[in-house]
Amino acid sequence: MTVSVTGRLLIVDDEPAQMRALSTTLENEGYFVAGFTSGKQALEQLRQQSFDLLLTDLTMPEMDGITLLRSAQAIDPNVVGLVMTGHGSIESAVAAMKAGALDYILKPFTLRTMRPVLERALTVRRLIGENIELRRTEDTIRRLNIDLERQVDERTEQLTEANRELEAFSQSVSHDLRAPLRAINGFGNLFIDEFGSQLDPQARSYLDKMLSAGVRMEQLISDLMRLSHASAVELRKVEVDLCKIANSTIADLREGEPNRNVDVTIADDMLCQGDPQLLRIALENLLGNAWKFTRNVEHARIEMGHLAGVQDGFFIRDNGAGFESSQTRNLFAPFRRLHSTTQFPGTGVGLSIVQRIIRRHGGRISAEGAVGQGANFSFTLSMSKNATTRAAHQ
Ligand SMILES: Nc1ncnc2c1ncn2[C@@H]1O[C@H](COP(=O)(O)OP(=O)(O)O)[C@@H](O)[C@H]1O
Ligand SMILES: [Mg+2]
Repeated sequence: MTVSVTGRLLIVDDEPAQMRALSTTLENEGYFVAGFTSGKQALEQLRQQSFDLLLTDLTMPEMDGITLLRSAQAIDPNVVGLVMTGHGSIESAVAAMKAGALDYILKPFTLRTMRPVLERALTVRRLIGENIELRRTEDTIRRLNIDLERQVDERTEQLTEANRELEAFSQSVSHDLRAPLRAINGFGNLFIDEFGSQLDPQARSYLDKMLSAGVRMEQLISDLMRLSHASAVELRKVEVDLCKIANSTIADLREGEPNRNVDVTIADDMLCQGDPQLLRIALENLLGNAWKFTRNVEHARIEMGHLAGVQDGFFIRDNGAGFESSQTRNLFAPFRRLHSTTQFPGTGVGLSIVQRIIRRHGGRISAEGAVGQGANFSFTLSMSKNATTRAAHQ
């Protein structure tokens, strides 16, 4: 009969007859067997060839079983050792197990008692092999991960650097563009003041158009600078009272247009962690939009409060002009506007500034709206999971 687990066995017994008998029996069982009466020769063989199990006698004149086992495991740390011992020397078998043998086989041998011990030892050997394979795979994965992290770090660093350069570039371009533009607008105005009365109406209207385009360009440039400022300025997080900022923003808006009658509700418990200067800029833009886009509504209403059940989540909604709901994604791109400047003035940069500020706080912003039915902007100021899904779907 052949055992289910085949394996390579190295057998050492100083009694030649005993060694040969055991080797033949186990060969007949289907194992690959190499038998030796000398420990030294067995070790020599182990250096040449890999074995799963070492079966060794304990008491041998040339080299005892424990020494042999230690030397064998020094050659191949994964070889599984079994010691063969008579009933009288069980204690030395236990000592051998303490020294690294997995099990012992009692003499005289019977196949019935030996087979399960061998099978168990071979299973252990297979598991050791699988474990090594697993550790190797783990090592590979760990190395790949480290590599990946390093690559991500490098790319992030490159991207940050590229962004920094881009910010610096747009800052200096904006700055350099401003000076000639001021000269054009300034001299244009002087020209109108001094010679305006002598111009024929057609010439005058051309000049007016040039000057108002110049003014718009100045606005665009200063908005560009505000946009890069929102990304570049250092973020300083402290406790911020959004209610206070919102109320003072609304007071400024009322002062700018005292004739407008807008019903404003601001919740009074809106504390959060954030950068007060940047959050003021964000609220000025959001509330400024709500104020602007409700200018044609008879009973204008603006409301700001907490997003229900969302930590650090807030909304600002109005009942103004609203927008096409399919256009929601475009609102946050720089210079994208869904309304014409003749209807509602503006450069289309405000919401992209707001989005950068919110993202820098680790939050998200999203918008909902319908034409003629107002707009609702929801944002969070931290990465709470609840908040993200909520804001992303609003
Ligand atoms: N509260 C709002 N109601 C209706 N539309 C809005 C509102 N807020 C923003 N929008 C739309 O998003 C566009 C971009 O807004 P924003 O970046 O602040 O630019 P701007 O205010 O200069 O137009 C606006 O032009 C408008 O079409
Ligand atoms: Mg705006």
